[in-house]
Amino acid sequence: MFSPFPYDKISDNKCFFGRDKELKELEKTVKYSNNILIHSKRRMGKSSLISNFIEKHFKDYLCIYVDIFDMTSKEDFAYSLLKALSNSQESDLKAAIKTLTSLFKRVRVEPTIDPTTLKYSIKPVIATLSFEQMMEDFFNSLNELAKTKQIVLAIDEFQQVATIKDIKLDAYLRTFIQNRKNISYIFLGSKRHLLTSLFEYKAPLYELANHFELQALKVADIYDYSKKYLKVSKENINYIYEKANGETKLIQNLLHLLYVYKVQNITEENIDELLNEIISSKEASFRIIYDSLNNNQKIALKIVGKYKSGFFVSEVLSEYNIKKQTLQSSINSLFAKEFIDKDADKYFIPDRSLELWIERI
Ligand SMILES: Nc1ncnc2c1ncn2[C@@H]1O[C@H](COP(=O)(O)OP(=O)(O)OP(=O)(O)O)[C@@H](O)[C@H]1O
Ligand SMILES: [Mg+2]
Repeated sequence: MFSPFPYDKISDNKCFFGRDKELKELEKTVKYSNNILIHSKRRMGKSSLISNFIEKHFKDYLCIYVDIFDMTSKEDFAYSLLKALSNSQESDLKAAIKTLTSLFKRVRVEPTIDPTTLKYSIKPVIATLSFEQMMEDFFNSLNELAKTKQIVLAIDEFQQVATIKDIKLDAYLRTFIQNRKNISYIFLGSKRHLLTSLFEYKAPLYELANHFELQALKVADIYDYSKKYLKVSKENINYIYEKANGETKLIQNLLHLLYVYKVQNITEENIDELLNEIISSKEASFRIIYDSLNNNQKIALKIVGKYKSGFFVSEVLSEYNIKKQTLQSSINSLFAKEFIDKDADKYFIPDRSLELWIERI
């Protein structure tokens, strides 16, 4: 059934709203073949933004989108790039395979059927190739294509690059990124420390991309969009926004439920009820996350959930029966694992529904 409020998949252009300024910023970047790093807290809408940009501009540029969330090796990375390039061609399958065969020196390509979508796509065959050979084929082809068309290469979840240990992938990429013509790189990601560490002073990618932090959607834009489908007041939207702490996904999830339940008279009470429903539905997976922590980390997470800041004081320490140093080191390890994050002097849990669940236990 159609819902105008997608919350668990990338929103297509019919259900996408409130990002005009950001789309303009991207257009400006791409027009001059500059690079950009788009980061934000989790689930603000980075992937949806780039996906809509590509939908809007697939005729103007050759857009290549690759999500490297699952990659576990440098070979995975090279394969993902090749696969994304292979499937970025606008032409039909036969013509695309012909183009790719003339572009690639070593990589072969063949048609395949995607088991989930049952759509045809192109699969690079790389069995005997090394990482370097794959990368060479990828970048040579990219440069060749860039001679006739401007290229946008978007790499989502880019922080994963920092997790590959047998090669310094960022340093390796630097040369290619520096010597580009007619190509814009768009890097996207959420794990802020990992991601920004790749672009910090003296890091190989330093100054190779402008930084852009994607902010929460504006209340006014959410209201303008949702009133088309719901009997909702500005105050309702304000309340939803506050409860979700601006997280796009949770806002959309609440609006989706109001829509499917056809709530006629929206009140703070029924918004609260729906929020409970969302949080309870995630109970099992939150438990698993929580149970993966040691006791002190559990306590630290509860303290962060409840107090957010100013909790290194004797009342809190004795309430939870934990020593200051133990709390500090548990906070540090939660921070390193990105279970918690910090904005100014306030800690928070990047997944808003998990944060709400933690506040309740
Ligand atoms: N501008 C928008 N208009 C409508 N819905 C949106 C918009 N931005 C995001 N959403 C919805 O919010 C949810 C989260 O968005 P998305 O996955 O794009 O965020 P993200 O920042 O890439 O998240 P993650 O940090 O998990 O990678 C999606 O279901 C998406 O449909
Ligand atoms: Mg994303």
